[in-house]
Parts: sequence; structure tokens; C-alpha cells
Amino acid sequence: MHTSAAIITGASEGLGKFMAIEMASRGYHLVLVALPGTGLPQLAQFLIKNFSICAHYFEMDLTEVDNCVALFQSLRTQHIQADILINNAGIGNNDWFDDKCICFYAKQITLNVMAPVVLTRLFIDHPCHAKQRYILNVGSLGGIFVVPKKGVYGATKSFIRHFTKSLQIELRNTNISISLLSPGGINTKPELLVLHDSLKGISRVTVLEPEVVAKKAIDGMFKGKKEIIPGIFNRIFVWLKGLLPNIIQEMIIHRNMKNVL
Ligand SMILES: NC(=O)c1ccc[n+]([C@@H]2O[C@H](COP(=O)([O-])OP(=O)(O)OC[C@H]3O[C@@H](n4cnc5c(N)ncnc54)[C@H](OP(=O)(O)O)[C@@H]3O)[C@@H](O)[C@H]2O)c1
Repeated sequence: MHTSAAIITGASEGLGKFMAIEMASRGYHLVLVALPGTGLPQLAQFLIKNFSICAHYFEMDLTEVDNCVALFQSLRTQHIQADILINNAGIGNNDWFDDKCICFYAKQITLNVMAPVVLTRLFIDHPCHAKQRYILNVGSLGGIFVVPKKGVYGATKSFIRHFTKSLQIELRNTNISISLLSPGGINTKPELLVLHDSLKGISRVTVLEPEVVAKKAIDGMFKGKKEIIPGIFNRIFVWLKGLLPNIIQEMIIHRNMKNVL
């Protein structure tokens, strides 16, 4: 049994919940974080009962920097060491830019960008005796490919990509391994299932189920992979992106997004 714990943000539902189940099934103690009133106590109870692990939970809004600081202070006071940080909480959307209000974008940028930066900084300083520590930052293929209706979201994920790759170089000679997860579409909730179902052609094959992505993500993190791209087609598209001229890439994206647009 593992002694220190893995922090998972956005663990109440979607990919975060599946990663929590995956980690618990491997015997890891957990620190689950999500907004209040979203079923974290019940999830913690379920994991404790079924996998005989310790699961702590913190119900908080991670868009408040003070809450991120308070989380690590609580871990210190409760003598909980954390050797893994999974920055998963994030807000996505699929709307024309002017259909969303300023508040939405402010929240999206704060949660997708500011929270992972602050939590990563706090995690690095958090006392932990583990020989090896891991950070997994959840990005997206939207951070690599420019797609309409995901302008701000894609930009936040580009930030995460750049931030993670830069830290990989800085942390090279330390005991902290940092990986980037770049998934395509994931069927994490009914509205995404409907959206993903409406995709045609190559866009459709980028979509995977959350349990598949969670397993690949955790396997890749423990292997110390720099970038984890679940799905063979997604890996091929990223590889092709490096080869195809921009104009051809734009034509392919327009053709495949026709239904969604
Ligand atoms: N689904 C996809 O197609 C897809 C594709 C590529 C990448 N991703 C990325 O994968 C990650 C998870 O996506 P998902 O589809 O699983 O999302 P999701 O089902 O909406 O879950 C998001 C999680 O983040 C939490 N959260 C939201 N706002 C928060 C806040 N202010 N403070 C703390 N926690 C908050 C949610 O908690 P509550 O339950 O408390 O709201 C929930 O646990 C995101 O980073 C997303 O960008 C998703």
C-alpha cells in the first residue's frame, strides 16, 4: 500500500472521477478536490469501501487562489504528504466567441490556467519524502489544433502545453516528473456525447471513453512520458500536423467541423 497521496482536481465527475477510480484501484491514497455539493463525500466513501484506501476530500472553488493555498495548508496541518498532483479541473465550451459573457471567459481562464500554475507551484514546495513525485497536467488536442468555437478554451490548453513543456526542462534533474495529457474528445457527459455524435469523418475517431483515457493517462504518467496522446488516430493527426502546410490543415478542419458549425 502506498503511503502518500495523489491530489486530483475536478475529481467529482468526468475524467477526474475516472482517474480517481483508476488510482484507487492501484492502491493510491487520494485527495479529491471539486466544487462544493458535487458528491465528493459519496465518491470518497465509495473509494474507501471498495479499494481500502484513504480518500480525503476538499470542496472548494479553485478559481480562488486563496483556496489553492488553503488546500496545501490543510494538507500540512493534517500531515498528508502528496507525491502526485493531477491538474484536471477545467471548463470547456463549444460556442461562438460572442455568445459567452465576460464572466465565463474570466472563470475559464482562471480555472484552466491560473489554478494549475498555482497548484503546481505549491506542490513543488510541499514537504514530501517520496523518492519520485509526479505531476500530470490535463491539456487537450484543442491546445494543438486551432478549431472554431473553442478559441479561448484552446488558448488555455496551449498555455498548459507550453507551461508543462517548459517545466519538463527545468525539472529534468529533480525527482519530479511532469507529463502532459493531450486527449481528443472524451464522452464525459451527455451533452458531449451528443456533440461528439454529430461529428463526421476523421473528427469522430478522435473521441474516446473516459475510462480508456484515464488508464492511458495514469500509465503514461508513471512511465514519465512527456506527452500522453490517447488514441492511435490522435497520435497520427498530431504527427501529420508537423508535416502538412497550414492551408491544408485549415481545409481539413473546416471540412470536418461542417456539421458542428
Ligand atoms: N471532455 C472532453 O471532451 C475533453 C477533451 C480534452 C480535454 N478535456 C479536459 O479534461 C479535463 C476534464 O474534463 P471533463 O470533460 O471531465 O470535465 P467535467 O466533466 O466538466 O469535470 C470538470 C471537473 O472540474 C471541476 N470543476 C469545475 N469548476 C471548478 C472550480 N471552479 N473549482 C474546482 N473544481 C471545478 C468539476 O467539479 P464540479 O462537479 O464541482 O463542477 C468537475 O469535477 C478538463 O481539463 C478538460 O479541459 C476534456
